[in-house]
Amino acid sequence: MEAQFLQAFYDLASWIRLSPLLNNGHYLPFSVVSLRPSAMIKVLDDIALGDRKVLVECGSGTSTVVFARMMNQRGYGKLLSLEHDGEWAARVTTQLAAEGLSDVATVVHAPLEEHPAAVKGMDWYASKTVSDEITAYTDKHGAIDLLLVDGPPGWQRDRTLARYPAAPVLWDFLAPGASVLLDDVNRAGGKEITERWKEELGLDMQLDPFGTRGAFGTVPS
Ligand SMILES: C[S@@+](CC[C@H](N)C(=O)[O-])C[C@H]1O[C@@H](n2cnc3c(N)ncnc32)[C@H](O)[C@@H]1O
Repeated sequence: MEAQFLQAFYDLASWIRLSPLLNNGHYLPFSVVSLRPSAMIKVLDDIALGDRKVLVECGSGTSTVVFARMMNQRGYGKLLSLEHDGEWAARVTTQLAAEGLSDVATVVHAPLEEHPAAVKGMDWYASKTVSDEITAYTDKHGAIDLLLVDGPPGWQRDRTLARYPAAPVLWDFLAPGASVLLDDVNRAGGKEITERWKEELGLDMQLDPFGTRGAFGTVPS
């Protein structure tokens, strides 16, 4: 109960801090699958304090628009968001375009398919699309300095490790010192993913003490 209260408190405080980014004249829907406000603030603070410029996100939505608004206000920084659902990718792309943010953030539709890095025959974002798009993006803008892993969906019982491939697949594109956030680590599979990343890549992911339900790590320099 106390943990839930603290989470609600941090989210409430985060809504207040987010408000300058939510009042730009364009309505932005939030849902239960959106990154929690406290996690958004954690990422926004990392973008600001870590001077992050080359962002990649797995799983697009409200977070994509909020981060794009922040980088647009700041005047620099890019975001590429991998999205498995074509309709959702089009919806987020439309919102970005309506707000004049297409130059800041791009949603790449990458359907889920069998993937060599996926666990137990699970799928991940289409290998060739990811490779082509991420290579072109990093050739143009430099190595990724912030990776947010909030997709593909992993809540189903047989998909709890669905987000595992993100770090190994994108590892060679990450800058030393890059930040990595894995959301929803509180549910089944979350701990195993972070343990595998630690063992296989030396990436130490720490649960956020502020109840965001995310784990955060830094790529070793
Ligand atoms: C955990 S969500 C990603 C959320 C996103 N990072 C955000 O903070 O809004 C994972 C997937 O759910 C789907 N999704 C996201 N927001 C949605 C919404 N409001 N309604 C339906 N599906 C959504 C997208 O396919 C997305 O890749």
